Amino acid sequence: MKRFIVLPLLTLLAIPSPAAERTIPVKGRYLNIPVSHSAPRVRLMMEADGMDPMPFVVRLTDGKPDYWVFKDLSRLKGKKLTVSGDISEAALGAAYVADTIVGASSLYAEALRPQYHFTTARGWINDPNGLIWHDGEYHLFYQHNPYEREWENMHWGHAVSPDLLHWEELDDALFPDKTGTMFSGSAIIDTDNLAGFNRKGRPAMLAYYTCETGERQIQCMAYSLDNGRTFTKYKANPLIDSKEEWNSRDTRDPKVFRYSDGRYVMVLNERDGHSIFNSSDLRTWERKSHVTGFWECPELFELPVDGDPSNTLWVMYGASGTYMLGHFDGAVFSPVSGKHRYSAGSVYAAQTFNNIPASDGRRIQIGWSRIDHPGMPFHGQMLLPTELSLRTTKDGVRLVSVPVREVESLCMPLGSWQNLSQDEALRTLRQFDNPDGLRIRATIALSHATDAVISLGGARLVDYDMNGNMLNGMPYSPDDPTSMELTVDIFVDRASAEVFVEGGLFSYSFGRERRPGQDSFYIRGNRLTFKNLEISRVEPVWNRI
Ligand code: FRU
Repeated sequence: MKRFIVLPLLTLLAIPSPAAERTIPVKGRYLNIPVSHSAPRVRLMMEADGMDPMPFVVRLTDGKPDYWVFKDLSRLKGKKLTVSGDISEAALGAAYVADTIVGASSLYAEALRPQYHFTTARGWINDPNGLIWHDGEYHLFYQHNPYEREWENMHWGHAVSPDLLHWEELDDALFPDKTGTMFSGSAIIDTDNLAGFNRKGRPAMLAYYTCETGERQIQCMAYSLDNGRTFTKYKANPLIDSKEEWNSRDTRDPKVFRYSDGRYVMVLNERDGHSIFNSSDLRTWERKSHVTGFWECPELFELPVDGDPSNTLWVMYGASGTYMLGHFDGAVFSPVSGKHRYSAGSVYAAQTFNNIPASDGRRIQIGWSRIDHPGMPFHGQMLLPTELSLRTTKDGVRLVSVPVREVESLCMPLGSWQNLSQDEALRTLRQFDNPDGLRIRATIALSHATDAVISLGGARLVDYDMNGNMLNGMPYSPDDPTSMELTVDIFVDRASAEVFVEGGLFSYSFGRERRPGQDSFYIRGNRLTFKNLEISRVEPVWNRI
């Protein structure tokens, strides 16, 4: 768990200021709020007819802001919004309503804005939540603090996409309430109306989330009848409160899915591992089993081995990306191997989509990339969506992750070369120095059992130490241990890089410093040969929506 989560919210409060209240007629779409990181965090309350009162914490300033954040007021048009708290009248007066956000003209064009990885317009993001396909849309909900580029005020942000690449960011979907903030969880479509929220044949989207109250973490539900645009919280929440059973408040991040016999399964992280619950009405849940060895953000899903549907295994993982393979009967997961690691670096809290149509059949994952975007009004990004599969290797069955095929549509070929010497490869790469979005596919043959390094500016895209069995600082041995080759698929974005090795058997990701004009490629090695080198430009996704 991140250190800052355990800080009780109250310790973050400001030195008391005089209480102030302001009532604002909603005559525009956004409340623009100036934020300064030298201003203290103050706890305010937002209230209006038609919205649940919302407590939130913000570094509101009437001085010089570092940047502006906003609250979308579309749902409150024509109403009156009241904002109150222990803050000066002047600071409260600095926020204002308008039809545009401050910074609209540079939105998505900021110096460090990732070009093809999902980021939020304003604020902090962490875990993907409620990943689901429904009615032609992929939904990406995510942990969002809309009011600061640091972790706080957990909301569920919301974006939709037709293709997993071009995301339209909508208003937040779940807001903090008097009980607490909205921690991670998942979403399903209640096709059989088991929970009873469906209306006029329209199936409800159910969001299962953890409510962090400050003292405990309880499991709750909300339903939406408008494709996730707005949610109503279930009146009889919480569904599960297991603090006493575990003598721990670390009980969170419900992942719900339907098992093949029709029952619903919830995997919930409780203290030292993942518990499995069953439900037949989607409201009451019975704990069936528990698997120790995982922390936060549970996942559990079935995959065919080497594409054979008659031979499947279940994959269970936690937030770090370590996984076990095993068998699952709907109530009990029995591990047969692990824990293995398929991905490393910035990845955390990856989740897979529910409800992907059977005709598609893919297991698609999005992970949070824990990287910073210094000086920007946003922080954190999502990794590329990847397709997961199981492949038999010399060490047994392993999880494989490759970018979804849709990513190809962003890649514009710039050239393809074979059998280049190290110097020729370097000259070729240097033509593409200072990249914004670049994909480099290469098979590098080593002539000595030493190093192969490709770097860009200060960032080591590939740092293979064959002698030490290390790849970018992580233990790595190729599937064929005698191989003198390394095959990499490198995605460079403005502030990050993602590298898929050996067709996705291992991947890693990291933040990189963008140094305009000085981002040059460099290769180190002992007479390396690039058996293959393919370079593509990766198109930005923001200007297409
Ligand atoms: C993982 C996590 C989750 C929690 C969320 C809070 O990054 O700690 O366990 O629900 O973040 O933002």
